[in-house]
Amino acid sequence: MESIKWAVNHMPKTQDEYLKVMSLSQVEKARTFHQSFPQYARTPLAKLDAMARYLGLKELYVKDESYRFGLNAFKVLGGSFAMARYIASETGKDVSDLPYSVLTSKELREEFGQATFFTATDGNHGRGVAWAANKLGQKAVVHMPVGTTRTRLENIKKEGAQVDITDMNYDDCVRLAAKEASETVRGVVIQDTAWEGYEEIPSWIMQGYGTMAMEAADQLKDCGCQRPTHVFVQAGVGSLAGAVVGYFTNLYPDNPPVFVVVEADAAACLYKGAAAGDGRIRIVDGDLKTIMAGLACGEPNTISWDILKNHVSVFAAAPDWAAAKGMRMLSAPIKGDPQVVSGESGAAPFGVLASVMTMDEYQGLREAVGLNQDSKVLLFSTEGDTDPERYKNIVWEGKDC
Ligand SMILES: Cc1ncc(COP(=O)(O)O)c(C=O)c1O
Repeated sequence: MESIKWAVNHMPKTQDEYLKVMSLSQVEKARTFHQSFPQYARTPLAKLDAMARYLGLKELYVKDESYRFGLNAFKVLGGSFAMARYIASETGKDVSDLPYSVLTSKELREEFGQATFFTATDGNHGRGVAWAANKLGQKAVVHMPVGTTRTRLENIKKEGAQVDITDMNYDDCVRLAAKEASETVRGVVIQDTAWEGYEEIPSWIMQGYGTMAMEAADQLKDCGCQRPTHVFVQAGVGSLAGAVVGYFTNLYPDNPPVFVVVEADAAACLYKGAAAGDGRIRIVDGDLKTIMAGLACGEPNTISWDILKNHVSVFAAAPDWAAAKGMRMLSAPIKGDPQVVSGESGAAPFGVLASVMTMDEYQGLREAVGLNQDSKVLLFSTEGDTDPERYKNIVWEGKDC
């Protein structure tokens, strides 16, 4: 069985110029925006007391994003907020003046007119963009990488977007979406990753993800937990991880939690960068084959990379078995604990945590991040069973696919 790989972060620190992207005031704006949606409800924070005892931890919390807006994943938070901020900037308004009721009004549609939003996606981000475009009366064009399942495409189609599965990997789909947008009148790229010269929209997307982190911080307090000691977060391009790490660093500036980033082994670009240790970005190419479709991205978000370099303790690369194990454990909780339906990309950090706490070969990692009976750990199950057939195959049939 392939091992979980890990690298302690010894990279040189930078000026931290992007930490302010995730300032508490910016995230508050995003949350206020999301709260204006009729579909809005805080997603549950599952408190797994029996599992915490079993794993030798003090407290264990899993934020369950399968309940987000009926879309089964957190991603819509980013695309919707970025689209609102884009429309705000085009119409000379502040996003605070554009709650859902105004954004979807006839008056605003007439004022803003018609744009086409282009994006590339493994499924969840594109579904969020298509959903938001539909609600706002805008057009969406979505490209998906080879290996994506038909179910994920159908979910995007249902939202009225133009969508196809290409023969390219995720990163090449991003380039295709950017090229098409540049050739289209009022074409806009709403991509969940940043590169040099394309930073504003991805920073809005990260702020949108901040809603999830802010909710979790409030819910922890409701449970009597003033501060998690450890936060595990999964990464594809790293926008989500940058958002979560940035938010919690700003929330606890004097005493931040220990952050662990978990990637799919087949697409572990951040881990590779950390292992190289010089602070420069590393890229993973090829077909990036993994069951963790949402994490199958080989080129890091440049803004996030800067935040992660400065604040993350350990970068881990998880083989598929770790994600599958996490899915099974969360779906069959210890008696008394709530169940979390967690998909492949959602369960990877939990699978890694459970392995690190129970398998001798990861004692070094356990010690490197200081996980023990006093630890209060927060994780994000970022998706539910976004591909229900595959979910059943893994959880019921015991296949790692
Ligand atoms: C369910 C899920 N979790 C995590 C991620 C990772 O987010 P990011 O690409 O910002 O690192 C994704 C990305 O698509 C996803 O769909």
